[in-house]
Amino acid sequence: MNREGQSAIKNHFDRLYKQGITPWKNHPPSSLLIRFFALLKASAAKARLLDLGCGDGWLTIEAARVSIAAWGIDASETAIERAEKSAKSTGIASKTKFAAGDALDLPYEDNFFDGMIDRGLFHHILTENRQLYFDNILRVLKKDALVYLAVFSENNPEGIGQRFTGKDIAALFGRYFRIIQTEKDKLPTTAPAHLLHLILKKTQ
Ligand SMILES: C[S@@+](CC[C@H](N)C(=O)[O-])C[C@H]1O[C@@H](n2cnc3c(N)ncnc32)[C@H](O)[C@@H]1O
Repeated sequence: MNREGQSAIKNHFDRLYKQGITPWKNHPPSSLLIRFFALLKASAAKARLLDLGCGDGWLTIEAARVSIAAWGIDASETAIERAEKSAKSTGIASKTKFAAGDALDLPYEDNFFDGMIDRGLFHHILTENRQLYFDNILRVLKKDALVYLAVFSENNPEGIGQRFTGKDIAALFGRYFRIIQTEKDKLPTTAPAHLLHLILKKTQ
């Protein structure tokens, strides 16, 4: 595992949160996310959702708003403090549970979650650490769990983070997940990033 490189990325995000710089929040939510919530609710009566790399918890809270019990985890303590505060102020804290922690060392029981959101984390997992990412999520997700994944597309400007085509994601996630739906942000875009969105279903 490349611990040093991964820690540098975590520190980078924590610094941004401390400075109040969160450009990824200016990215309009994809219609696929709404579909994902509906599919998740239909798939299990009391679905448990993990928001991996949840940041300040805005999507975790959105899930709780549509009555999904949602757990959010993020490496940035600053972001998690904000998430807890927002959940309290929106009055749905009882439906959310936040923790500061590492996606590569998840503190949850095996087969615990029916669904997972990864919006903007996977493209920051270094290639040498990818298998550890998969080992962690595969352990905590139930068979047939649904995943909403949003990653930088090949049209994203070059910068921090990796870029993926649909074929790349099929090759990486296809060993463990079936792709249910894919959508790309429209071009041209005024959003700060260009994302590829997918709904996936765990096959094992
Ligand atoms: C682009 S932001 C996306 C945040 C959130 N998902 C959203 O859409 O607003 C990426 C997030 O991943 C978190 N992160 C980076 N490395 C992480 C790790 N190893 N474990 C958990 N979270 C991590 C960062 O702190 C940051 O909040």
